[in-house]
Amino acid sequence: MDILENSSLKDFNTFHIDVSARFFCQFNTVENLKEVLSEKKTENYDRLILGGGSNLLLTKNFDGLVLRNNIRGISITNEDKDHVYINVGGGEVWHQFVMYCIENNYAGIENLSLIPGSVGAGPLQNIGAYGVELKDVFYELEALHIRNKTKKTFSNAECKFAYRDSVFKNEEKGKYVITSATFRLNKQAKFNTAYGAIQKELEAMGIKELSIKDVSRAVINIRRSKLPDPTKIGNAGSFFKNPEVPKEKYEDLKKIFPDIVAYPQVNNVKLAAGWLIEQCGWKGKTFGDAGVHKNQSLVLVNYGNAKGEEIYNLSQRIIDSVFERFQLVLEREVNII
Ligand code: EPU
Repeated sequence: MDILENSSLKDFNTFHIDVSARFFCQFNTVENLKEVLSEKKTENYDRLILGGGSNLLLTKNFDGLVLRNNIRGISITNEDKDHVYINVGGGEVWHQFVMYCIENNYAGIENLSLIPGSVGAGPLQNIGAYGVELKDVFYELEALHIRNKTKKTFSNAECKFAYRDSVFKNEEKGKYVITSATFRLNKQAKFNTAYGAIQKELEAMGIKELSIKDVSRAVINIRRSKLPDPTKIGNAGSFFKNPEVPKEKYEDLKKIFPDIVAYPQVNNVKLAAGWLIEQCGWKGKTFGDAGVHKNQSLVLVNYGNAKGEEIYNLSQRIIDSVFERFQLVLEREVNII
């Protein structure tokens, strides 16, 4: 196993922040991973597991071992009348897996097209978009315990999925490497096109008879029109979560801000953080190479050589100003290292 020393992480995080790792190693199999976890020279160092590096902001050099998941493979493990079960290596690129499902007519993740990142990172924050979340098609995952190197299977319920959240961001944080995940896709599509932007896009595309390929294309068009392409402009998607507030708090805010954008949930109301941030005047602002994207204020960007710290400081100023204006505390969605 090649363990690199003082290696740049610039190409391994979608913010393209140029910091280095004391040790860096890519693994292709679970056996590989066990081997590197047993290496004497790195055993006393912190570990950071990287998938696509699309949901993190690196603010300093990492004085530990960075492990990049490269476990590949997509295979059907089971099938019944209505479903197909597909096991996917944690190092597969999420969008490529979505494309595989579209080509084979396996339905359920077409709304999750073009989300950057790897399959193994998806369950961590229960990735979601346009009315669908990973948990809706997730069956189970295999993970390796970093310290005692034992395998464990987590069912959907054991992952404790919630909005951009799972057990791996809470009580099991930093303890496991997700080595593969199994998804349960539908043989018959149940389209989820309620999200306004999808309907509008499908109409613009002139679609009469809907297929999962059309929904995927519509989602790709929408994402391309408003979200920066991380291969061109450094970013990690939504930097903040949409805050959820009690109905009463929402009613109070609506009296003062009648245009506030909100999505009612079962017990509370989710507010569009992008709207709150735009109202505070941040949309399209740049400070050196750090900035707020011009089409979507939820997305912070690195236009070149921004330091992680500059992006972090910008995010703190945004949090402070949203609090001052709306008395709401925005939470970061991106992991800060
Ligand atoms: N809005 C503004 N100004 C902005 C941005 C948004 O006023 O700068 C308002 C608009 O009214 C817009 C509404 O907010 O119609 C919602 O915006 P959008 O449809 O872009 O969705 P979002 O709530 O801002 C969430 C997810 C995105 C996901 C979209 C679509 C979170 C944190 N973000 O954003 O996920 O693509 O919905 O489902 O939940 C990601 O997690 O990286 C991500 C991009």
